[in-house]
Amino acid sequence: ILKDGILSVPVVPPPEEVKDIASFDFDKDKSTVSITVVGASGDLAKKKIFPALFALFYEGCLPEHFTIYGYARSKMSDAELRTMVSKTLTCRIDQRENCGEKMDHFLERCFYHPGQYDSEENFLELDRKLKEHEAGRVANRLFYLSIPPNIFVDAVKCASSSASSANGWTRVIVEKPFGRDSESSAALTRSLKQYLDEDQIFRIDHYLGKELVENLSVLRFSNLIFEPLWSRQYIRNVQFIFAEDFGTEGRGGYFDNYGIIRDIMQNHLLQMLAIFAMETPVSLDAEDIRNEKVKVLRSMRPLRLDDVVVGQYKSHTRGGVKYPAYTDDKTVPAGSLTPTFAAAALFIDNARWDGVPFLMKAGKALHDRRAEIRVQFRHVPGNLYNKNIGTDLDLATNELVIRVQPDEAIYLKINNKVPGLGMRLDRSNLNLLYAARYSKEIPDAYERLLLDAIEGERRLFIRSDELNAAWSLFSPVLKELEEKKIVPEYYPYGSRGPVCSHYLAAKYKVRWG
Ligand code: NDP
Ligand code: BG6
Repeated sequence: ILKDGILSVPVVPPPEEVKDIASFDFDKDKSTVSITVVGASGDLAKKKIFPALFALFYEGCLPEHFTIYGYARSKMSDAELRTMVSKTLTCRIDQRENCGEKMDHFLERCFYHPGQYDSEENFLELDRKLKEHEAGRVANRLFYLSIPPNIFVDAVKCASSSASSANGWTRVIVEKPFGRDSESSAALTRSLKQYLDEDQIFRIDHYLGKELVENLSVLRFSNLIFEPLWSRQYIRNVQFIFAEDFGTEGRGGYFDNYGIIRDIMQNHLLQMLAIFAMETPVSLDAEDIRNEKVKVLRSMRPLRLDDVVVGQYKSHTRGGVKYPAYTDDKTVPAGSLTPTFAAAALFIDNARWDGVPFLMKAGKALHDRRAEIRVQFRHVPGNLYNKNIGTDLDLATNELVIRVQPDEAIYLKINNKVPGLGMRLDRSNLNLLYAARYSKEIPDAYERLLLDAIEGERRLFIRSDELNAAWSLFSPVLKELEEKKIVPEYYPYGSRGPVCSHYLAAKYKVRWG
């Protein structure tokens, strides 16, 4: 645009959000969805599931006829469930005046049925109540298993035999952990498949519902500048980083049985890796995408012990405040060797990625909280500007950072001339900060995934062969770590984690971002 003789580049306003999500094929008058949260009294149900359901309701994404049932052993009335749920609902989507009214409407659709997880009779009672609400409509049912994994199968058995829908679909969302290793995971899959078809099982990994993870394939496959660079030819290494600045607070009992490799790496980080590294799927169809993920996972080498570093946080006093050690948690056995930190180097033996280290780092009680993917590119061959860059050529390579959380962003580190008469180069960022570009708040991952499960969209859920492939990579090393009783490196609460993780990275000529 030429204005007063000056060329100005128009700033493209952020797009209005298009409501492409309310694409239900529900026949409005004839069908209904009943959502049963099994384990409704628990932490996840309160923190994530009910708030996500409310957000979907608020956005008009739930079908017109729906009912939500909480199911757990705790004794609670409908009114008590509503009080419990109401404490966790927020109007964060926007502050329009009718939010309180919407909450009331939502709570009116929430009910509770107390029952044991292994009682067909209790699930039959639930079934009767669901039928009253379904009242002759095509009845679709979604069960969300928000319970400890040792009772998954009992609950599925009872729910499927006593409370499955006669005329609509029945789907079951299963929360992680899906087993502890290849064998237990395969056994869990076999048991679930006694009662459900694979199509009915929605294995959730909430990282797949995160906005920036979903955006990964858009970034790769719809921008010409990235896909041609996406290979060993241009990429030196890729890093998947998960850090939390708090410990296992309150979840030590669960965590000690699993450890950080099973809790974060084998699922959340590996899922991001699979989407990052897979070949172009034939289409955006769930099976096409999952086929490519399985292929890339099966091309990976199982992780070796000398490519892993484990750590555990110890107590640390800072500013007069004493932060606890992992083993200070009363639900953690004294002397536990369970890692709360791990770093690992993985490799994909295919033509695209041969020799490129894929490094993972995950830890609790570290100095910051973040989840990101860092792509470090190779040096520019024969770079004319090497002498202007300084001595550390590694620092002058391009790096693409996909910051999944917090402060979602995508930025590319480039070399740029510092304005002025001299010739000095500076590392600057081409920066897409979501908060600056998009005014709408990013939905929680559970909202996206619950909506997909209701719509029968399986793209973001884990298929059983994918799960097998994921466990094959980690099971041998987990067994070795446990059998050899490898002692973790102890790192202070709130620190940057074990020093050994830098040695592991250095072994592959990598510097952590
Ligand atoms: P909880 O430990 O809070 O358990 C959920 C409910 O299950 C409890 O309220 C309790 O209900 C029932 N329950 C607990 N222990 C037992 C037991 N030993 N036997 C029978 N029933 C039991 O779990 P969360 O809500 O934290 O998590 C639920 C699921 O989601 C788990 O599989 C967990 O691994 C997974 N998950 C949790 C996350 C979180 O942030 N909390 C994150 C990611 C996954 P009642 O006594 O009323 O029957
Ligand atoms: C869960 C893990 O799957 O993910 C927790 O079990 C972890 O240990 C959590 O804290 C992190 O999720 P988010 O969405 O807060 O990064």
